[in-house]
Amino acid sequence: MKGLVLSGGKGSRLRPLTYTRAKQLVPVANKPVLFYGIEALVAAGVKDIGIVVGDTREEIRAAVGDGSRWGASVTYIEQDAPLGLAHAVLISEGFLGHDPFVMYLGDNLLNKGITPFVEEFVRNRPAAQILLTRVSDPQMFGVAELQGDNVVRLVEKPKVPKSDLALVGVYMFGPEVFDSVKQITPSFRNELEITDALQNLIDRGCVVRPHLVEGWWKDTGKLDDMLEANRLILETLERRVDGSVDDTSQVEGKVVLEAGAKIVGSVIRGPVIIGSNAKIERAYVGPFTSIMNDVTVQGSEIEHSIVLEGSVLSELSNRVIDSLIGRNVRIVRQPVKPSAYRFMLGDNSEVGIRW
Ligand code: TTP
Repeated sequence: MKGLVLSGGKGSRLRPLTYTRAKQLVPVANKPVLFYGIEALVAAGVKDIGIVVGDTREEIRAAVGDGSRWGASVTYIEQDAPLGLAHAVLISEGFLGHDPFVMYLGDNLLNKGITPFVEEFVRNRPAAQILLTRVSDPQMFGVAELQGDNVVRLVEKPKVPKSDLALVGVYMFGPEVFDSVKQITPSFRNELEITDALQNLIDRGCVVRPHLVEGWWKDTGKLDDMLEANRLILETLERRVDGSVDDTSQVEGKVVLEAGAKIVGSVIRGPVIIGSNAKIERAYVGPFTSIMNDVTVQGSEIEHSIVLEGSVLSELSNRVIDSLIGRNVRIVRQPVKPSAYRFMLGDNSEVGIRW
């Protein structure tokens, strides 16, 4: 059994962050989202892993390395352009050979892992097995129609959905899939779609089996989903305070404070994680906030947010909420007149001002 993790793509829904960073490396509870996927594969006994990479290949390689830290062996597979999930399978044939494999979308998170999913595939050994979850808005997803234990049809974003079973970003395939990814043609968005490859398998008489997700699943490709994933993971943390907290501060509930972090005159109310060398001074850090290494928060309040390395929030008069703040960003109140907003924002940045 091999693993195929998809870590290329455009990441257009997470711009401007994805102009300068792979979306799979955006941290959830201070750990790159991609690492959760690799860990889920390794926990299911899948240690020979191919990672499909695109424009952000160097950054992914630098972060993941050869996989030895997880006891895995990682092979990088270059995708020249993000031409679809089925295209990623097509270009990986050399690595996958005749082995069955788990395909895992590198920006997806599953709290219960994939072990029962992999075990069921091994027991039944269909041509493909798909992971499904019930959703309230199936029109927004790839939707599966079932007959008994088999998937009989897959429809991408159906106007009139025949079920509420949406495809989750983990799939299992046998080598039968290679004929399918070679037979299908690009969709209207010029991508080779994995739903078309699955439908092709079904149409050729191959068995495609469903498996329902246990626990929660999140695709972190958009801001709100990223914040929700962060919230869900933070809830699972155990309290650990290795950094320093002065006498005038309060650190309440599930808080992870890494060594070298400093809390001065502040209130930290978990679930919260604060990275090494972060400095929190005269500040409030509220529930569901992840603060990476080397961040400074002074004279400000923040909650339900993610702040990446090296950023500074200083003397802000309103609380920052529901935000994803990139690396080395400065949000600083300046005590000069006239009072005004002064911005220098990259393309596709978003600022929300609430009264
Ligand atoms: P998506 O989130 O569906 O696509 P995307 O990364 O292009 O994002 P957006 O829609 O915001 O522009 O991709 C799911 C995962 O698969 C993600 O980790 C990126 C990866 N991927 C590839 O590796 N190659 C591809 O050709 C595509 C389309 C996605």
